[in-house]
Amino acid sequence: MTDSLHQPFVIDPDGVAPSQVPFRTLTTGAKMPAIGAGTFGSDHVTPDEVAAAVRGAIACGYRHLDCASVYGNEDRIGEMLKTVFPVIPREEFFITSKVWNDAHAPEAVAASCRKSIADLGCGYLDLYLVHWPFPNFHPPFCDVESRSADAVPFEIERFMATWRAMEQLVDEGLVKAIGTSNVTIPKLELILPRCRIRPAVNEMELHPHFQQPELFEYVQRQGIVVVGYSPIGSPARPERDKTPEDTVDVEDPVMVEIAHKHGIHPATLCVKWAAQRGQVPIPFSTKKRNYLANLKSLCSDPLSDEEMSRIASIDRGCRLIKGQVFLWQSARGWEDLWDLDGTIAK
Ligand SMILES: NC(=O)c1ccc[n+]([C@@H]2O[C@H](COP(=O)([O-])OP(=O)(O)OC[C@H]3O[C@@H](n4cnc5c(N)ncnc54)[C@H](OP(=O)(O)O)[C@@H]3O)[C@@H](O)[C@H]2O)c1
Repeated sequence: MTDSLHQPFVIDPDGVAPSQVPFRTLTTGAKMPAIGAGTFGSDHVTPDEVAAAVRGAIACGYRHLDCASVYGNEDRIGEMLKTVFPVIPREEFFITSKVWNDAHAPEAVAASCRKSIADLGCGYLDLYLVHWPFPNFHPPFCDVESRSADAVPFEIERFMATWRAMEQLVDEGLVKAIGTSNVTIPKLELILPRCRIRPAVNEMELHPHFQQPELFEYVQRQGIVVVGYSPIGSPARPERDKTPEDTVDVEDPVMVEIAHKHGIHPATLCVKWAAQRGQVPIPFSTKKRNYLANLKSLCSDPLSDEEMSRIASIDRGCRLIKGQVFLWQSARGWEDLWDLDGTIAK
């Protein structure tokens, strides 16, 4: 932990009043700020640097944090939050965490949740997500082409056993709401009718070159709030997650032109467009200039209908987080994780 994180926390005078930031209302009645701070350091930003960035983002007005045990930094973020909570009460935050794929066994779900709460020092979570719908995991930094011998395809009853443990966390008051991440329509069609407590949120990859219109609309129709991850197209994602076919949202001429017109960076336009479309973007940024611009972009100067239509038209169906490392031995390729033909691959 760098010393600066232990300095007394002060609100940044350049920031945005949290009351000016739009919010979404979950089925539970809870209010989620319509932008959150991502916390995944993409293997190149250290846990302390992530904690410092989140501290700066909070000082500028962010009150929604997207955390996960697998990001390996919840203890550092928690250490930093100790200096924040005396100034901004815990209740003013919306804090998400996620159960990793190695903790899907029902007894492991509760243990993992309690560890995240303890590491973050936040008492309870506002939202707890099942990070991926597969209990498949891999060593950190492993070769993207490697396949675990234990990896298995999606199986509804196994998933529901995990989900029932998630529901129990709500019953026990450890978490206020639960949700899914990286699921598809065919999987949700199986999951939703079996839930005692339905997901309040679904977190999914969303950026201008990957708009997932069918899943986005399906989730919204279900009354589930959509959180969009990698909203800028994750330009700093690890090299192992890049393929030659990947496109770059912030270099799209339509994004560059509209951003220029509004006097913002195309990255900020990605965030602004996301929030105006109705998803909750959770951009990651280590720079005040960037995270402040992203936050401010939600508060004024909306995009016109024509600009929204033009951005809708640049969807390339370009999935960046393909999840190859979660494939089981007999899977054909990463497409099998995403049920592209409407059926769940076995
Ligand atoms: N549920 C899941 O499975 C899942 C998967 C992936 C990600 N996530 C979550 O989503 C969050 C965001 O996704 P991500 O981190 O992959 O990527 P991202 O938010 O799309 O992109 C982050 C990158 O954009 C840059 N950036 C941010 N704002 C900018 C601005 N205004 N101008 C120029 N550059 C800007 C940042 O650089 P600087 O640091 O230089 O600003 C950073 O390198 C993660 O941190 C994590 O919390 C969830």
